[in-house]
Amino acid sequence: MDFSGKVAVITGGADGIGLDAAEAFKSRNADVVIADINEEKLNSAAERLKATTVRCDVRSDKDILTLRDAANRQGPVDIVMANAGVAAGGRFEKIPMSEWQRLFDVNVMGATRTINAFLPDMIERQSGIIIITGSSAGLFNNNGMNAPYASSKYALQGMAKALAVYCRQYSIQVHYLAPRMTDTAFPRSSVAWGRKGSHVTSEVDIGTDFDTVSDVTNALLEGIENNQFLISLTKNTEEQLTSFAQSQSPF
Ligand SMILES: NC(=O)c1ccc[n+]([C@@H]2O[C@H](COP(=O)([O-])OP(=O)(O)OC[C@H]3O[C@@H](n4cnc5c(N)ncnc54)[C@H](O)[C@@H]3O)[C@@H](O)[C@H]2O)c1
Repeated sequence: MDFSGKVAVITGGADGIGLDAAEAFKSRNADVVIADINEEKLNSAAERLKATTVRCDVRSDKDILTLRDAANRQGPVDIVMANAGVAAGGRFEKIPMSEWQRLFDVNVMGATRTINAFLPDMIERQSGIIIITGSSAGLFNNNGMNAPYASSKYALQGMAKALAVYCRQYSIQVHYLAPRMTDTAFPRSSVAWGRKGSHVTSEVDIGTDFDTVSDVTNALLEGIENNQFLISLTKNTEEQLTSFAQSQSPF
């Protein structure tokens, strides 16, 4: 794939899955704009990729407008990857409402705000690619300890489907990217709420069965090329979705 002449915006792009996607787009000649809340990570991403970077908290309308203006200075935006995300979970009754709010503000409203900033122009030009980073936890979740995270990723799946149907008339591709556990800072920095308050998951054993960011990027590139709505990293996704849907209980 060659993205020559195309501008790609990636939120949460200064680390992990977003950074690897940014690198892949860049190496395929896209003009990449990386947005992230973390300035330190942005600086090292700017150095590594020689890409435009914008400090942007996806919860802020003002920051998103700054991002839109910076991206539009490179040219019309062709690819938007709404990827910024945070995680929290734990014992349902112990998770504060403020934590639910934080997850929905970043994961759901942040993606909505990002897409809204670029969609009118894509509609006008009748072209574009929108990638919403969801999760396997937003496809077939049977983990009892990740309610806010899974809820936000299921919400994104619903949004992505509606957007895909809406955007077909404008020849805009929409993708729901569903990584499974991937080796980034993310799985270890999730906040878990228990009987005695909260802790980050780096303090517990979360196993070793991880994909790499390149696994995710390779699946993403293939999914874009084939205009495949659901880009899932889980093996036998179709069968798993069918059996999950057929089962009357989540257990
Ligand atoms: N790593 C996994 O196991 C995994 C699995 C499934 C889905 N995902 C999803 O992939 C996406 C990227 O995760 P990752 O693994 O690359 O994590 P990461 O922590 O490596 O990167 C996430 C980036 O998002 C940025 N960010 C956080 N809050 C932000 C905000 N309010 N505004 C702008 N930027 C913000 C962080 O600074 C960070 O650079 C997330 O949406 C996550 O839910 C990750």
